[in-house]
Parts: sequence; structure tokens; C-alpha cells
Amino acid sequence: MNSSIISKEEILKAFEFRHATKEFDASRKIAEEDMAFILETARLSPSSFGFEPWHFIVVQNKELREALKPVAWGAPLKLDTASHFVLGLSMNASMTKWDAPYISTMLHEVKKFPEEVVNGYLTFYREFQERDFALDTDKKLFDWASKQTYIALGNMMTSAALIGIDSCPIEGFNQEKAEALLREKFGVDTDKYGLSYMVAFGYRKAEPPHAKSRRNKKDLITWL
Ligand SMILES: Cc1cc2nc3c(=O)[nH]c(=O)nc-3n(C[C@H](O)[C@H](O)[C@H](O)COP(=O)(O)O)c2cc1C
Repeated sequence: MNSSIISKEEILKAFEFRHATKEFDASRKIAEEDMAFILETARLSPSSFGFEPWHFIVVQNKELREALKPVAWGAPLKLDTASHFVLGLSMNASMTKWDAPYISTMLHEVKKFPEEVVNGYLTFYREFQERDFALDTDKKLFDWASKQTYIALGNMMTSAALIGIDSCPIEGFNQEKAEALLREKFGVDTDKYGLSYMVAFGYRKAEPPHAKSRRNKKDLITWL
């Protein structure tokens, strides 16, 4: 079955509706099932080799939201007003390097590959990391995992917009200080995970102050 259940116009309307919401209406809460839907679109997102190198923390605890403010200059108003506030974590090298135990667990227990397939997959994955993409430092491996986690970010924001929910992606934080805080107060094992982004969800307090500005198609798309 391949019949469209939503029109292109409706989808583009959602893309126009979505904007980086600076302040939310603090009195409005996202329904549990709507938030579950948004998070499900993160879970179903594609990732390189299918390794899902991410984790999402939904921060609803008021004290923990307060604790984030000093390390996240781009977030205070959103931390105060967003219905839901999510941290997008990505796996560090200890999790995603070709010989990491997590990779083996994914292949055996999630993908349920037979042993001979696992071995072939690992050889291929090792060559990709070491030769094709030269992921030869911990930082490069983290950034590569981050790229996957940003796909989930895009999907969450788009799916939220499609059901009339606003969002704001946030990179306005100090990564080192934020990760120290996550280690101390949020129970995050920072040997395994780093912080890629934050994203706030809720309902806008006011209409956006500016119309959307974007470059022209001809300046960013080349057809050959
Ligand atoms: C990865 C990423 C990080 C961002 N970080 C912040 C942020 O820290 N604070 C903020 O207010 N907006 C942030 N933005 C929002 C952008 O400024 C915004 O998306 C851009 O100006 C385009 O506007 P629009 O999203 O309203 O169409 C971020 C956007 C992205 C994609």
C-alpha cells in the first residue's frame, strides 16, 4: 500500500508552522500520547549501519531544569516554559568503535544476526570506520554518532509540527560544563555518552516575530 494519507500542502504547512520557539505558553502541557508519538519518531529514525547511537533524556524535574540554566545560555526561557525538555545524547567511542561490546550486542540481540553475518558486518564496519571515513579519534567518532542523533532531532521537530506542537532546538550550551553536570546530577555515564543538543517542546506563547527567511532554491540546489 502506497497511497498518500497526508497531502504535500499539509506537510509544507507544518514546515512553515515550525519555527525555533523562543518562549512557550507555560500553562499548556503536551498530552502524554503526543509526547510518546514524538519520541517514537526519534526511535524509528535511521542511523548509519543501524546502530542507533543515541539516548534521549526527558527532563521534567524542576530542580534538574534549574541546574541546566547556568551551563546552557540558549535555554533558560525554554527551561522555564517548555512543556517537555529533551536532551539528545550521542554515544562516545567506547560504545561505537567497531570492536565495542555495544556493537556486538546490537548485532546479536537487536538485529539477531547469525554469527557468520555478524563477522562479515563487523569487517565491513571496521573498514568503514578506519578507511572510508577515517574515524580515527574519539572526537571524530562522537561527531559521527552526533550526526545520527541530529536525524532524530529533525524527525522529532517535524512530527511535532505535524500535530501542531512547537519546538526549539538548542546548541546554546557549554559542552564540557553540561556533560560534567550530566555526570554529577543526571546519572549519565559520560564515558559512554556526550551531549549533542537540547530540544524544547510545547506551545508557542506568541506568534513568531519575523516571517521565515530562507535562501533561494537556485542558490542551494544544483541539478546536473
Ligand atoms: C542545531 C541547532 C541549534 C540551535 N540552537 C539554538 C539555541 O541554542 N537557541 C535558540 O534560540 N535557537 C537555536 N536554534 C534555532 C535557529 O536559530 C533557527 O532554527 C534558525 O534561525 C532558523 O529559524 P526557524 O527555525 O525559526 O525557521 C538552533 C537550531 C539548530 C538547528
